[in-house]
Amino acid sequence: MEFKLSEEQLMIQQAAKDFAQNELLPEVIERDDAQKFPTQQIKKMGELGFMGMMVNENYGGSGLDTLSYVLVMEELSKVDASASVVVSVNNSLVCWGLETYGTEEQKQKYLTKLASGEIIGAFCLSEPEAGSDATSQKTTAIDKGDHYILNGTKNWITNGSTAEVYLVIAQTDVEKGHKGINALIVEKGMEGFEIGPKENKLGIRGSDTHSLIFNDVKVPKENRIGEDGFGFKFAMKTLAGGRIGIAAQALGIAAGAYELSKKYAKERKAFGTEIANHQAIAFKLADMHTKIQAARHLVYQSACDKDNGDDYTLSGAMAKLYASEVAMETAVEAVQIHGGNGFVKDYHVERMMRDAKITQIYEGTSEIQKIVISRSILKD
Ligand code: CAA
Repeated sequence: MEFKLSEEQLMIQQAAKDFAQNELLPEVIERDDAQKFPTQQIKKMGELGFMGMMVNENYGGSGLDTLSYVLVMEELSKVDASASVVVSVNNSLVCWGLETYGTEEQKQKYLTKLASGEIIGAFCLSEPEAGSDATSQKTTAIDKGDHYILNGTKNWITNGSTAEVYLVIAQTDVEKGHKGINALIVEKGMEGFEIGPKENKLGIRGSDTHSLIFNDVKVPKENRIGEDGFGFKFAMKTLAGGRIGIAAQALGIAAGAYELSKKYAKERKAFGTEIANHQAIAFKLADMHTKIQAARHLVYQSACDKDNGDDYTLSGAMAKLYASEVAMETAVEAVQIHGGNGFVKDYHVERMMRDAKITQIYEGTSEIQKIVISRSILKD
């Protein structure tokens, strides 16, 4: 199958490439070192329309397709995966869920600002004791008539301190299991909502990851997304699309590491010739290129499935599983090709190796993707 990009998609891809080179690259090492959030860069990406790419223009979005979003994610991630995860969470996990399942009032109040990049959002599912096992929610949202009382702790929340709007998954009726779970919109500043300390991470250090604590937070009923008990399905459906974004992020990290390695191999000399002329290095580059192309096909296919209205749970899981494995493998090989320089921050590939690891973990580990894939292929 050939993916022929339209003129518009090629222009969007180029805009993301230029932005990554001109705006993300200059201080990417400093942000990684200092764990500094890319505030200015996110603001500019809002102006470029990258924060609500698939949202209808009536709600402040860019009204584009998933393939365009994937192209942008890939280009940004070639340079700065910390910035691209902010884009991915805001687009896939927050805006998409609100646009698809939110009420008109919720869309007017929250989505318009989120899609235009005026504010950013966070998706809060994981807990200290419920990561992969997402139905085991301990956070409670007790029904009090016209509002819920929210109590509990969420962990590893991307955009934890920088978000203004949080989509929080919580258990309302434990007897009903996953059918008793709700998704609530929580605003920063609601009484009893506290942001925990920032996590000191191996990779994507420019993004801010926090635990969140809810102590008797009063959340109005009109802030529930969907019908009573829809919260778990909301989370699963949202994550199915989120995984396409993370797959594109992984693809971008792999492609970025490969491009730097190819350039380095054609410049660096050893034993009297450029190291690319040594088969040991040339074969590494051949493997990288082949696997990246295979990952790209899976990622683009999944985006096209979503755009065509086809089921994308299986293709998204396959894309995330494969692209994240390729990202990790490619980044490790990129460090090896760079030799001693690869171990030094100035050459970028050590950061890519650290950043790649999380793509095998968040929005469903590789093992969870295999559960999703195997259940899907075995169900008939
Ligand atoms: N779409 C719609 N419904 C779905 C679904 C999907 N993709 N996947 C599951 N469901 C439904 C099932 O049909 C079932 O409903 P019924 O009982 O009505 O049939 C219900 O959800 C429960 O499903 P399962 O019985 O399959 O549940 P399970 O306990 O076996 O778990 C799982 C399924 C796939 C393993 C799920 O728990 C899962 O995806 N876990 C991983 C969670 C995850 O990805 N966490 C990432 C955190 S978010 C993050 O990282 C964001 C960030 O900040 C970057």
